[in-house]
Amino acid sequence: MMKFTVLTLFPEMFAPLQESILKRAQDNELINIALINFRDYALSKHKNVDDVPYGGGAGMVLKPEPLYAAVRDLPLAQGQRRIIMLTPQGQVFNQKRAQNWSSADELVFICGHYEGFDERIRSLADEEVSLGDFVLTGGELAAMVMIDAVARLLPGVLGESASFEEDSHSAGLLEYPQYTRPSVFEGMEVPEVLLSGHHARIEAWRRKESLRRTFLIRPDMIPNIKFLPGDYSLLEE
Ligand code: ADE
Repeated sequence: MMKFTVLTLFPEMFAPLQESILKRAQDNELINIALINFRDYALSKHKNVDDVPYGGGAGMVLKPEPLYAAVRDLPLAQGQRRIIMLTPQGQVFNQKRAQNWSSADELVFICGHYEGFDERIRSLADEEVSLGDFVLTGGELAAMVMIDAVARLLPGVLGESASFEEDSHSAGLLEYPQYTRPSVFEGMEVPEVLLSGHHARIEAWRRKESLRRTFLIRPDMIPNIKFLPGDYSLLEE
């Protein structure tokens, strides 16, 4: 059972995780999602979690005390725990990081909202991660995306026969095109080779289409492709 713990001021934003595959994964005790409102750890009577920035300037800054208290109050870790801070200043999340995190026992996500973090909050985190090069109103949507990407990699979450080798990005390439019946739809035909039953030719076609797509749509991924000995002759055709 992998545990996801989220420290947030808006636990109700996480309702989407109670649907579909992640709901079933929780029902089957493959994952557990704990939501902690760190406002509960605010010290003042009015439960303030933010304050004006030292040195002046617009906006508010998350105070360190509530988050430090919330992290210190986490139940004893059962195995390997990673504490992740969501921020647009972090390293950009990707499939490789999802795979790496999927072997942890617990991931703790610290979500800010609207505002910056007091710099000292950074010391709580093992890593700072961003969903992408854009700014969200808070870390909550980023945490949900990352929980989804990690949870689907865990044994049993997608069902017994799931294979991840062919996912887009898992081998540094985009996934090849897929088709199902009918073989002709509104004049658009399924490529002949897929109907041939010739496994080696199908594999070669899929590899070539994966490479083609990646070159055309995501040339930025080319330096990280793990080329295979047969790729050269495929691309020559
Ligand atoms: N909080 C605000 N913007 C974010 C982003 N891009 N990634 C993660 N957390 C964020």
